[in-house]
Amino acid sequence: MNERDIRELRSLIDSQITTIYPSGPKSLTQTIRYVLEAGGKRLRPILTLLSAQTFGTTITRALPAAIAVEILHNFTLVHDDIMDEDSTRHGQPTVHEKWDLGNAILTGDAMLSLALRILQNNGESHDLMTVFTTGLLRVCEGQALDKEFETDKNVSLEDYIQMIDLKTGHLIGLASEMGAIVANADAKTRIAVRDYGRLIGRAFQIQDDLLEIYSDSEIMGKSLKSDIILGKKTFLMIKAREVSSIEIDKAVKQTRENFAKGKQEIQNILNDMGVTRLTQDYIAEIICSANEKIADIPHDMTDILYFSDMITRRNN
Ligand code: IPE
Ligand code: IPE
Ligand code: MG
Ligand code: MG
Repeated sequence: MNERDIRELRSLIDSQITTIYPSGPKSLTQTIRYVLEAGGKRLRPILTLLSAQTFGTTITRALPAAIAVEILHNFTLVHDDIMDEDSTRHGQPTVHEKWDLGNAILTGDAMLSLALRILQNNGESHDLMTVFTTGLLRVCEGQALDKEFETDKNVSLEDYIQMIDLKTGHLIGLASEMGAIVANADAKTRIAVRDYGRLIGRAFQIQDDLLEIYSDSEIMGKSLKSDIILGKKTFLMIKAREVSSIEIDKAVKQTRENFAKGKQEIQNILNDMGVTRLTQDYIAEIICSANEKIADIPHDMTDILYFSDMITRRNN
């Protein structure tokens, strides 16, 4: 496995996903095409394909499940951008920004239907459908907690981990588990690779919290204001509040008058408190625990471990 192999998998996913809804009302075909052609890293379907291949089946056989996972992910993003009032995604205006709220809600609904239909039409197993729909409900629960926490000043680290495991971990967990299901892997293997995916998702979300503070909108291709403006409870904010909630609240308030200045102040505070370093170490630790989950699986896990390295190295 190398960068080129990953690029090839990504191209395969890109070429399949854009043909998924060729005809229908124009207002729906154009928004769905708009979302699915905009790209993205395609990490979840890549994980499904790598998992399937690792446990002995072909990429072709796992492709419908992988496409369903990516459509599900993009559906959650369309609705997440409404909930987070974000205006840019994948380097272009979000659907509710370019069209309107109603259209964005409907686009998400239709995308979810398409994902479910792909699974059904491919005669996939009952297990696959169960894992998919259970994961979907978990994401909704995570998103609910994410919103509830915005106005809650007493969110603990434990609450936060529970919330991100639901909103992000379960989706990545279902991506890896579905690959194992398509390959007919045994129950123990399925659970191990699912738990691996969930932990990767946990690390991924904390990385995302970090990047939202330190990266820029151009590199990430999305708006990076909502975490601060909406008072999201991220790993960094919870840790900083443990040291001094007065200091961090003051800097957050400052972003409302001058966003750039306030954000710089937040960066300075997080650096001075050692929270940035602590966050980076914590992410590395979680990725190690994820790799441990799959250490005893009696298959060659090189490709999945390569996936972990890709996550470690990510900068967008
Ligand atoms: C974004 O996920 C949502 C989070 C869980 C933070 P990705 O970074 O994987 O989204 P893509 O690559 O833009 O599709
Ligand atoms: C990511 O949400 C999880 C889902 C979309 C379900 P976030 O709100 O943290 O991610 P970004 O920053 O918008 O990509
Ligand atoms: Mg968001
Ligand atoms: Mg969100």
